[in-house]
Amino acid sequence: MKKILLIVSGGIAAYRSLDLIREIKRRGDDVTCVLTKSATQFVQPLSFGALSQNKVYTDLFDLESETNIGHIKLSRDADLVVLAPATANILAKMSYGISDSLATSVLLANNKPLLIAPSMNVKMWNNPSTKENIKTLKKYGHIFVGPDNGEMACGETGAGKMSKVEDIYKEIELLLSPGPLTGRTALVTSGPTIEPIDPVRFISNQSSGKQGHAIAERLSKLGADTHLISGPVNIPHPDNVRVTEVRTAEEMLNACQESMPVDISIFAAAVSDWRALKVSENKLKKSDSLRNQINLPLIQNTDILKTISETNINRPKLVVGFTLETQNLIKSARGKLTNKSCDWIIANSQTQDNKSVFNNEMNEVSFLSSSTEEGWGLLTKKIVAEKLCHKIIKFFNVAA
Ligand SMILES: Cc1cc2nc3c(=O)[nH]c(=O)nc-3n(C[C@H](O)[C@H](O)[C@H](O)COP(=O)(O)O)c2cc1C
Repeated sequence: MKKILLIVSGGIAAYRSLDLIREIKRRGDDVTCVLTKSATQFVQPLSFGALSQNKVYTDLFDLESETNIGHIKLSRDADLVVLAPATANILAKMSYGISDSLATSVLLANNKPLLIAPSMNVKMWNNPSTKENIKTLKKYGHIFVGPDNGEMACGETGAGKMSKVEDIYKEIELLLSPGPLTGRTALVTSGPTIEPIDPVRFISNQSSGKQGHAIAERLSKLGADTHLISGPVNIPHPDNVRVTEVRTAEEMLNACQESMPVDISIFAAAVSDWRALKVSENKLKKSDSLRNQINLPLIQNTDILKTISETNINRPKLVVGFTLETQNLIKSARGKLTNKSCDWIIANSQTQDNKSVFNNEMNEVSFLSSSTEEGWGLLTKKIVAEKLCHKIIKFFNVAA
């Protein structure tokens, strides 16, 4: 039997959460409810208590529950937290870390996966503030279901209706069924880094982040608690992964070190090998040139893959590097496997199918470990991610 903590905020769809409770109970799981003050204007706590057969919580300063620090304990006792319906108001508070009620305090102190079912008027949903808040909450790794399109209680039509109870329950089931990597933690780097030269110019590369993002998405779907550290990319971050956005190689290294310890680490980002020795405070001018040339000394960045791979304390159980070469691909990749002390290397050449690997959906890679070398051929980046994750599952089964 799984335990679900259902938080109900004050939207017109609050009454539909009663059906969700019935569905959860019908499947044999346990549900405890927290209602915001506004929610109690729409529905009676008594109905939630009767259907859930558990005490219903509404007040942060409820003496009985606060002797056990109730706002912390409620999520500790649960396997999953569900916020349905989620009002524009509670989403805004969450994105700013406000904890001015029992519901928002539980959400801020939550240490379990959180499923959010938004429900609001179409204009509220499309408001740039709400959009920004949703983006922030997705970045924190929360999972969204809906909203649906349709006619609303207010008479307007569009996106904002709370998802159907059966769709919310399907997501709950998915989140509660353990994937093969459940209980494992993973770190994935993705995208390029950018190294400033002056306030307006930088050194970078054309990495799109598609490969790293596909790996992070797959790991998370397999149950791994996944942290994506992403350089500047133009693709959406996957749902259900925690994201740290960085710009420079140094910021990426710091974020990786802060993310330790993890079980699985995959370094798919195209990290700049060099940065400007001195970043000019002002925009460099043509007049700074000498005989039409400008002297721009570069200094090598710390090698993130090597640094993490050679950490003595808390080294990840599995360290995987990506390498891109324009010549001697396999020889060079094997050299990196040894020199950087990593467990596996995925090697790809700069062009695939006569197109640049960057921003391409396809990737032609070779997989190298100390004992194997496999050419995987030309595959979509999503399939490369699947094949890699399949190897990771096998690695942990063998090592377990
Ligand atoms: C009749 C009525 C219906 C409402 N429906 C919604 C709704 O569906 N979604 C929403 O975001 N806010 C809705 N609101 C506004 C919220 O109730 C209001 O923002 C409230 O402060 C939310 O509090 P809470 O987020 O703490 O539950 C409605 C208000 C009224 C009076």
